[in-house]
Amino acid sequence: MRTNPASLALSVGMGLLVLLMGFAVLSAAGLVSLADYLPLTEQAMPVNEGPGQLAGDSTALPVAYKPASPEEASAIAAGDALFKNNCAQCHAVNDKVVGPALAGITKRRPISWLLPWVKNSSKVIASGDEYAVKLFNDNGKQQMPSFPQLSDKDIKSIVAWVNSQEGSSAQTGAVAVR
Ligand code: HEC
Repeated sequence: MRTNPASLALSVGMGLLVLLMGFAVLSAAGLVSLADYLPLTEQAMPVNEGPGQLAGDSTALPVAYKPASPEEASAIAAGDALFKNNCAQCHAVNDKVVGPALAGITKRRPISWLLPWVKNSSKVIASGDEYAVKLFNDNGKQQMPSFPQLSDKDIKSIVAWVNSQEGSSAQTGAVAVR
């Protein structure tokens, strides 16, 4: 029997249609999922990032600092806002921006130095304070603005926040706000 190409194409087409319809019925019934047949499976596979890095494992995150008292917690919260509004354009805790990274500041300088420095750094430099003069020269003689509007408590709060970002309770204890 001679097959006419047009009718062959028709029956192939019909066959495909029946197959597709069957598939649609099955997938509607939840028996097969179209997604199983698409090349998406590779991306959907969970990526094994090695031990300690699996989802839900918090060991890869920095340990959150736990304030010792509610007073310290509120000082840190106040310090966070004060830092963002007054200092963040030039300072970060762990990186040099315009001014030095502030991490470990209470190990370098006592609070009795930090208070007058933040209120008016040029006055401290002008007084001939050795550390201040060297700091100023090492930073290209870039002048830090004065913050006469900040109270001692404000500055201690900023320092408490800086220390909380380093995650060291011992240092924060040294400048506890009372
Ligand atoms: C316009 C930029 C600028 C701003 C804003 C600024 N600083 Fe500074 N800061 C500096 C520079 C520059 C130095 C380095 C000393 C110098 O050049 O006078 C410095 C130095 C310091 C130091 C001494 C750091 C060390 O390692 O000894 C402290 C502490 C400090 N700043 C705290 C603050 C605090 C707190 C604020 C916000 C209330 C602040 N700074 C806002 C630019 C700035």
